Amino acid sequence: MPLNPNELEAYCEAHSHTPSADLQALEKATHEQTDMPIMLVGGLEASLLRLLVRLSHARRILEIGTFTGYSALAMAEVLPAGGELITCDVNPESTAIARQFWAQSSHGEKISLKLGPALETLSTLDGAFDMIFIDADKTAYPAYWEACVPRLAPGGLLVVDNVFLGGQVLQPDSEAAQAVHRMNQMAQADERVECSMLSVRDGVLLAWKKR
Ligand SMILES: C[S@@+](CC[C@H](N)C(=O)[O-])C[C@H]1O[C@@H](n2cnc3c(N)ncnc32)[C@H](O)[C@@H]1O
Repeated sequence: MPLNPNELEAYCEAHSHTPSADLQALEKATHEQTDMPIMLVGGLEASLLRLLVRLSHARRILEIGTFTGYSALAMAEVLPAGGELITCDVNPESTAIARQFWAQSSHGEKISLKLGPALETLSTLDGAFDMIFIDADKTAYPAYWEACVPRLAPGGLLVVDNVFLGGQVLQPDSEAAQAVHRMNQMAQADERVECSMLSVRDGVLLAWKKR
């Protein structure tokens, strides 16, 4: 029987952690109130992010690309009390939805939003992060890689979304595809980290920073 990637993805999602009622409500609002609900990581990748937070014992997380706050809330739900998640975005409209839903969650107080270009925000942040999740403008992926690896604590985890860019990385013609492909090559050759690229959804790169 030929494998159907869409059916298999639905099967994976159905057999992974079910998003909380808060996340389900936020996903519904994102579909109703934005033009680009496709930008959400969705339930399957959220379940992966949650496990990565738990397994890495992360207490301080940086996210680049907030949108309506879905992935931030998914991770914050499993951050321990006193944990902190800083998330960066340039869009005041989508992040207004994020703020509204975080305020309704008992985990929302762990999240801080920084509005502005992420590379500028990064230069203002002190201290190391246990986990960093990159999910923003694709042409900046090589710059995000270079900015984020030094900000990871030893033993910390860098997670990058959309490293397939819908398959375009196999034949990278567009500027975005060339940038994502370049970052993938930088990651693979980077001796500061150990990488594994997962074929979850649109491709998820995991990079563990050596101690
Ligand atoms: C794919 S969405 C993030 C989705 C989110 N991680 C989730 O799953 O809920 C990408 C976001 O990156 C933001 N973005 C684009 N350019 C940016 C920049 N230079 N700095 C920070 N955020 C940026 C966009 O406004 C958009 O909200």
